[in-house]
Amino acid sequence: MTLARPNIARIEGYVPGEQPQEAGWVKLNTNENPYPCSPRVVEAIERAARGRMNIYPDPVSTSFRRAVGELFDIDPDWVLPANGSDENLTILLRTFVDPGELVAYPYPSYILYETLADLQGGAHERLLLNADWSWDLEKVRERTDRNVCPTKLLFVPNPNSPSGNRWDDETICSLIPPQGLLVLDEAYGDFADEPHRMELLKGEYGSRIIVTRTLSKSYSLAGLRLGFAIAHPEHIEQMRKVKDSYNCDTLSLAAGTAAIQDQQWMLDNTAKIRATRSRLTAQLRELGFEVVDSQANFVWSTHTEHEHRTLYEQLKTRKVLVRFMQFPESKVDGLRITVGTDAEIDTLLDALQDIV
Ligand SMILES: Cc1ncc(COP(=O)(O)O)c(C=O)c1O
Repeated sequence: MTLARPNIARIEGYVPGEQPQEAGWVKLNTNENPYPCSPRVVEAIERAARGRMNIYPDPVSTSFRRAVGELFDIDPDWVLPANGSDENLTILLRTFVDPGELVAYPYPSYILYETLADLQGGAHERLLLNADWSWDLEKVRERTDRNVCPTKLLFVPNPNSPSGNRWDDETICSLIPPQGLLVLDEAYGDFADEPHRMELLKGEYGSRIIVTRTLSKSYSLAGLRLGFAIAHPEHIEQMRKVKDSYNCDTLSLAAGTAAIQDQQWMLDNTAKIRATRSRLTAQLRELGFEVVDSQANFVWSTHTEHEHRTLYEQLKTRKVLVRFMQFPESKVDGLRITVGTDAEIDTLLDALQDIV
């Protein structure tokens, strides 16, 4: 018998992607950046490690917030750093959602939103996407704006995962739940052809939108755990009460500040990834896959003549790891493939050539 809260005991918990710890894998399953982080980040970590490690970090991450504020031309009071975007998603749930209140999100997308709602004792609603990954906007509005249990938080990953498609600003604004907030999860925002630079937050709807970003992907720092939310200070002030006192450590903050200040490094890597993404998309299509046009650092691919789980397993025996994903309620399954280096993508394509 467990003494855990019923909300915890009854759910399965989020299962992260496989993380083999030994070398030798072509790892294209959890959307990491295949390129190393900026050398300035490594120097900043070394400097910080030789510094005052015996004292607690700055609880409000002043230097990092200032760097983010300069980058997006916003006041640092609009920024809340966290231990990865995932921590900010948790903070959002704990700040805004009372037990029984409703959290909605597009389905298929990032299942963690649902898990976090369950942990909080909130209700969750999947807003089904069409087969071409578009959204029936009228239906979404109807469902988020009802009298009984209106949506408190609507999470929208943009670009979406696993599809990689991106909704335009007009669509995004039209989705703001009338009695709640819209959380725009821009984990993959830097990989879009036209990166989003927080214009929405500066416009008419700015106080109804919360943007979350991460250094895990475009800044090649998944191992570091650092993300940030940007929102009107009235929201940030409430969220700050919920976070751990020292949720970001000294090394992460030093590294993250250096990473944000070396924009050229990030931009060069994201440009390389975009070029490889185009080649991967074209070559997968030549092999008979259907591939969604992606604005992220991964592509969603399906094949009508092969079972996706079998393809995943056959690739795995060759030490190529991609993500097999299935979304039963939409009857959708397929392979989400992270854009690796050109050499990694060649290995993947050679293997698929043999298999299909
Ligand atoms: C849509 C989405 N949001 C958030 C995250 C989490 O990012 P972080 O590594 O900053 O916790 C991921 C990670 O894969 C993601 O796919």
